[in-house]
Amino acid sequence: MTTTGAQRLRLLATRRMMPDVEARLAASFDVTLNPTDTPLTRVEVLARTSGIDAILTCSLDKFGPDYVGELPASVRIIATHSVGYEHIDIGLAKARRIAVTNTPDVLTEATADLTLLLILGAARGASWGDRMVRENRWGEPSLISPLGFDVSGRRFGILGMGRIGQAVARRARGFGMALHYHSRRPVADGLAHGATYHGRFADMLPHCDFLSINCTSTPETRGIVNAANLALMPWGAILVNSSRGDIVDDDSVIGALQSGQLAAAGLDVFKGEPNIDPRYRSLDNVFLLPHLGSATPATRSAMGHRAIDNIEAFFRGERPRDLLTGD
Ligand code: DGY
Repeated sequence: MTTTGAQRLRLLATRRMMPDVEARLAASFDVTLNPTDTPLTRVEVLARTSGIDAILTCSLDKFGPDYVGELPASVRIIATHSVGYEHIDIGLAKARRIAVTNTPDVLTEATADLTLLLILGAARGASWGDRMVRENRWGEPSLISPLGFDVSGRRFGILGMGRIGQAVARRARGFGMALHYHSRRPVADGLAHGATYHGRFADMLPHCDFLSINCTSTPETRGIVNAANLALMPWGAILVNSSRGDIVDDDSVIGALQSGQLAAAGLDVFKGEPNIDPRYRSLDNVFLLPHLGSATPATRSAMGHRAIDNIEAFFRGERPRDLLTGD
């Protein structure tokens, strides 16, 4: 049980979580759950945080300045059940001496698995193939149509060689792909899985038959996959994104998919999701998923426990393992 003096700590969870995670919350804290699993309005969040010590949230809920600036002084930590943390105003939290933590590592393998699904799904036409069968449009089998694109042995570029990028590289090696990557700094040799480092994103792009976005969303990366950069890739390249939707410029990507400059794309994340740019829905050469990167029971459960571990460490007076507001 997590206490401060004789009192149990009070925690607000903004969303439903896996049953074992909620059970641990109930056993350890005086917890306010969100049984409806619908987003709380700003007014509801602020009303429910009165007297609260800790908030457990996720990337679906935005903790911008209008939230973080208004939280009561009782709130000491915001733990997000996500590796991404661009939805929280970290600078303001730090200024208000509110700790912020995330949940890296535990979703790496699931997200890398899904990235391979995007690559294969986009290249081999999983969406249109599935629709042809379901809608009874298979027609007369032919040797020349429909056709997808090869994956094995092709050139593969990774934007962002963090934990997930490395796990994607490890998998792509199994397909005999020639690997390239761009990130702010080169990683240690063993972590690159034989990938060639490019110090400039633009220098990597001519080598990318496939480009996988695995970087975090920051002011530097937002919109970086734009028309100018797409034009540096080989004609007919394939783009996949399992990171954040705002790293791509939707107009540029949709234009490239329409012209054939991009042969296909596999997208799990979108700017403004779930309200995605409607033009994606009418394109046959995109394989679309609803942000499923970490969506397995074991991974979601591990993320919840990792978030609670961080909160408990914080209230024991220790430095949480995944502290984002440290020096
Ligand atoms: C993350 O953890 O950031 C995933 O994208 C799920 O939100």
